[in-house]
Amino acid sequence: MKVFKEARLLRKSLTKYRNTGHSVGLVPTMGSLHKGHLQLIECCRNQNKVTVCSIFINPTQFNNPADLKKYPQNIEKDLTLLERTGCDIVFYPEMKEVYPQPPVVQFDFGNLGNILEGKFRPGHFNGVGFIVSKLFNIVAPSRAYFGEKDLQQLAIIRRLVTDLNYAIEIIGIPTVREQNGLALSSRNKRLTDDEKIQASIIYKALKAGEAMVRNKGSVGDVCNTVVAVLKEATLLNPEYIECVDPDSFEILEKDDISENAAICIAVKIGEVRLIDNLIVRS
Ligand code: PAJ
Repeated sequence: MKVFKEARLLRKSLTKYRNTGHSVGLVPTMGSLHKGHLQLIECCRNQNKVTVCSIFINPTQFNNPADLKKYPQNIEKDLTLLERTGCDIVFYPEMKEVYPQPPVVQFDFGNLGNILEGKFRPGHFNGVGFIVSKLFNIVAPSRAYFGEKDLQQLAIIRRLVTDLNYAIEIIGIPTVREQNGLALSSRNKRLTDDEKIQASIIYKALKAGEAMVRNKGSVGDVCNTVVAVLKEATLLNPEYIECVDPDSFEILEKDDISENAAICIAVKIGEVRLIDNLIVRS
């Protein structure tokens, strides 16, 4: 496994694969890797000749400076895990490599970027759009892999690719969970054991919401059901619960949502903010 810190050298190394018709897959991450990230790497390996994983904690997508400061990192462990999973190339740039100057280009995703995460984390998707575009331009992959865990991010990236004609196939990967249902997340490392148990109620609440969708409940019924189950966990403070169309990511306000819906949720547990979702397909 090769590790590159410079975009120029990474680009040069990838040219030889591209020139011989080999496919390159990209898995962008912010490190502190867990089995969810490794699932993306494995899918990428299965579909491409070369797997590139980027590790960069992107400051422009953090609206909360404390969250950025406390974001877990462990590059040595990440490199060991990537090597073991069969990753070929790691792009691990320093700050000045990615941001030689403060960026002036801005990404505005319209309504898609202003609801749910965009509403509670102003500027977040501008930062995501910026870094992902940069990585797409540097790596120029045939395919790029993103988790459904960050469903709105996945919708944003698909829109970025459509609007800017990136010749990249975007592959969405289902959320990897703990046995108790808690979605794996780098931020889980900041939870105490008790908080982790309480956080598993999020999935229980989503499953109850799913049952309500299948029972032809209204959006209001679904949200009330989710809230009622969340109340079992005294430490959880919900920020939003919304039902969206899983493809267009438009907020659903219809009475009957029994066709396709994703129930999306953000909760705070102490200082840690967690997001999760469940896609219900007919
Ligand atoms: P990060 O949170 O490190 O996540 C990297 C990728 O792993 C994302 O596509 C995310 O959706 C996926 N992922 C995280 N947890 C997952 C889980 N439990 N199951 C499946 N996939 C999971 O998302 C980012 O980084 C950044 O915003 C990034 C796209 C790298 C841009 O900076």
